[in-house]
Amino acid sequence: MIGRLNHVAIAVPDLAAAIAQYSGALGANVGAPQDEPDHGVTVVFIELPNTKIERLYPLGENSPIRGFLDKNPAGGIHHICYEVDDIAAAREQLTASGARVLGDGSPKIGAHGKPVIFLHPKDFNGCLIELEEV
Ligand code: CO
Repeated sequence: MIGRLNHVAIAVPDLAAAIAQYSGALGANVGAPQDEPDHGVTVVFIELPNTKIERLYPLGENSPIRGFLDKNPAGGIHHICYEVDDIAAAREQLTASGARVLGDGSPKIGAHGKPVIFLHPKDFNGCLIELEEV
């Protein structure tokens, strides 16, 4: 069911430093910061030849990234995102297998303007998984 790796997301305590490091030392093609109020994050995407890296920074008081950075002050890998053809069918298959979808279970529009859902990390070896319909 899952297709390509769409991106790996890394939470960062300092967005400007993260941008400077990826565009400078790592020589990557870094996009402009985007605020995502529905998700409580500011994101920056780094385009690699075969996938993307998403840098996540808290936006607003109730950002889900805030707690993650409290536990991981230096930042760290927050989630990985797989592509799916049909998010409703993917959710159906996953919930039937016992996996939990975060939030109210309905897809939200993600950073690329496409529907996304997140799967509970406790059901996937401690890894938060995002599914994006492409
Ligand atoms: Co993501």
